[in-house]
Amino acid sequence: MKNLFKYKNLMGKKIKNICCIGAGYVGGPTMAVIAYKCPHLNVNVIDISEERIKSWNNKNADEIPIYEPGLSELIKKCRGKNLFFSNDIKKHIAEADMIFISVNTPTKTKGIGAGKASDLKWVESSARQIAMHANGFTIVVEKSTLPVKTAEVIKSILDAAQENYQNKSNSGKFSVLSNPEFLSEGTAINDLINPDRVLIGGEDEDSIEALSQIYNNWVPKEKILKTNIWSSELAKLTSNAFLAQRISSINSISALCEATGADIREVSRAIGSDSRIGSKFLESGPGFGGSCFKKDILNLVYLSEYFGLPEVASFWNEVVKINTWHQHRIAELITKKLFGTLSAKKIAILGFSFKSNTNDTRESAAIQICKDLMDEGAFLCIHDPKVSKGQIAKDLNCEPKNNNLESITIQEKAYSGVWQSAIDIKTALKNADAAVILTEWEEYSQINWYQLANTMRSPAWVFDSRSIINRKNVVDAGLNFWRVGDGVT
Ligand code: NAD
Ligand code: UGA
Repeated sequence: MKNLFKYKNLMGKKIKNICCIGAGYVGGPTMAVIAYKCPHLNVNVIDISEERIKSWNNKNADEIPIYEPGLSELIKKCRGKNLFFSNDIKKHIAEADMIFISVNTPTKTKGIGAGKASDLKWVESSARQIAMHANGFTIVVEKSTLPVKTAEVIKSILDAAQENYQNKSNSGKFSVLSNPEFLSEGTAINDLINPDRVLIGGEDEDSIEALSQIYNNWVPKEKILKTNIWSSELAKLTSNAFLAQRISSINSISALCEATGADIREVSRAIGSDSRIGSKFLESGPGFGGSCFKKDILNLVYLSEYFGLPEVASFWNEVVKINTWHQHRIAELITKKLFGTLSAKKIAILGFSFKSNTNDTRESAAIQICKDLMDEGAFLCIHDPKVSKGQIAKDLNCEPKNNNLESITIQEKAYSGVWQSAIDIKTALKNADAAVILTEWEEYSQINWYQLANTMRSPAWVFDSRSIINRKNVVDAGLNFWRVGDGVT
């Protein structure tokens, strides 16, 4: 076991060709930054999805599949020079000296560990592709977030599968490293260019050095942390669990603020000023979303149970449970404020992505809150500057109503439990009984409530789950106002 990751060293071989399996939210931006910072490297990003690759190759770099500030500028600079997007998996794996695995690792929906453990089928198929096509000594880097001990699985697949593919000349020529990614969506490019740290886990010193040298092109040496492979895998899961735990903690206190007359922003400021606690990640909101927090915590829960630590599992499970409770709590309080029924009431939903500056809606709090409001009979008019109507329909599992629902009358059944997408904020608010801010997009903080209040149906409400609205502007415009964790009024 000790020597599992010790292989022949690189024998002076220089890394020239990099390949990344998975052209998603991590693979695309990460490789764009590597290509930009390392013009001497050839970077190929490959994916099984033809549609995704076609979209990355869109002539108009502003129409690539991922919205991320600064990304399209990097694509314009590097694509076609040393950065390429392709479906030719065989060719690019064969050419690569170093291969990043950056594929999706969602929660398993069936079988052992369903609902908690990570589904590693995409990781496994990547490992099999590598075993089949790689040429000579190849460094395989886990970029996906993976359960502890996955490197061992990847290694076994690489070793065993290559025998099946009669590729015996490659025997023992793989080195597996863990290099988890810590970027946040919406600030991915800045996070990649100025990381707090780069974490590399592994045993083979030459391979670790080869990967560090790539990062050294722009990341100071002292920020590159080297650990054993298992610590690296576990540190990634733990990092997300700690971040999510802070949000669940502050959201739980926001409910207490509302009940007691305290204000969560004041509480956050007061506790965040303690340098041991720190001020970041203490903003109460509608509940954390995003593709990773929930899945990574559930993964930690599964691992803890698997290793016979039920108390540890239940501690982390509460972080997810509070988050779900908090989302339902917000939908419920909106219903209560609107006289206990939403039937045939129009509610403007402002923001659908899980945070601002991204078009990603995975696990967005907006999904659960919108479903709850629709279950109560509301007619939702949903606006988001970056999320498409098709994506909202997929997430709500329900097509929008296309007929003209602009002027709502209470009697009409057609308005109950349906949604439409709004082309702009003004349309969303017209005749609405309430506006619910679910994503902190800049443009929502600049709404002129004086101008728009009288287009809403009185007595109208503004529900601000992101604390981005100036209370005075809303109240002076004659609207009722609720804001998360605000028990002061
Ligand atoms: P994603 O779903 O956006 O992208 C994954 C891509 O991999 C898809 O385009 C899919 O078609 C492709 N793929 C799957 N199997 C393949 C195969 N065998 N060959 C070629 N392509 C294949 O996922 P993502 O958000 O980029 O996340 C990837 C990993 O990074 C996950 O483990 C996630 O937990 C982790 N992570 C994500 C973020 C984030 O902000 N999204 C941040 C840090 C870490
Ligand atoms: C998170 C981590 O921050 C990254 O370090 C990690 O790499 C990534 O997950 C991952 O592994 O996928 P991300 O989900 O992109 O990044 O975005 P965050 O900024 O962490 O926000 C997550 C959720 O928490 C959002 O819904 C956001 O609105 C919410 N949040 C965040 C709050 O409600 N309050 C806060 O104070 C901060």
